[in-house]
Amino acid sequence: MKISSETADFKRIAKELIKRTERVLKNAYAPYSNISVGAAVYCANGHIYTGCNVENSSYSLTMCAERVALFKAISEGERDFLVLLIHSSGVESILPCGACLQAYSEFAPEIVIATMNAKKEFHFFPIKVLLAKPFRLGG
Ligand code: THU
Repeated sequence: MKISSETADFKRIAKELIKRTERVLKNAYAPYSNISVGAAVYCANGHIYTGCNVENSSYSLTMCAERVALFKAISEGERDFLVLLIHSSGVESILPCGACLQAYSEFAPEIVIATMNAKKEFHFFPIKVLLAKPFRLGG
């Protein structure tokens, strides 16, 4: 299933994803970087899963918002992902880090990554543009 940005469906989905990322952003635990990140992944069946970043005093244990959303969805049995929206309090138009791109490419090699700036304008990137050659066992 593809979503065209011209359709009413798209506008409804975009609105909902914005609402959900803004809401989950407030739950971010980011006392070390002070950068709160919210993510919402939209599944082909219409379900939405959200995540925020969760930092740790042992910095390397920090988990990104995108992977929290993905793992919540996977653990609920979801496997078909269409769009991931990311939103940050501190950085404009944030894109997923390499680790998150690798994690998403395992389950969603066709997903579209959406970023949003302060004016709530979207930019879209197919995951393959951001991570052209993900790691795969066996090459
Ligand atoms: N972070 C995310 O949640 N997602 C990203 O794509 C990049 C970075 C978080 C991790 C850390 O808590 C904070 O942003 C600063 O790096």
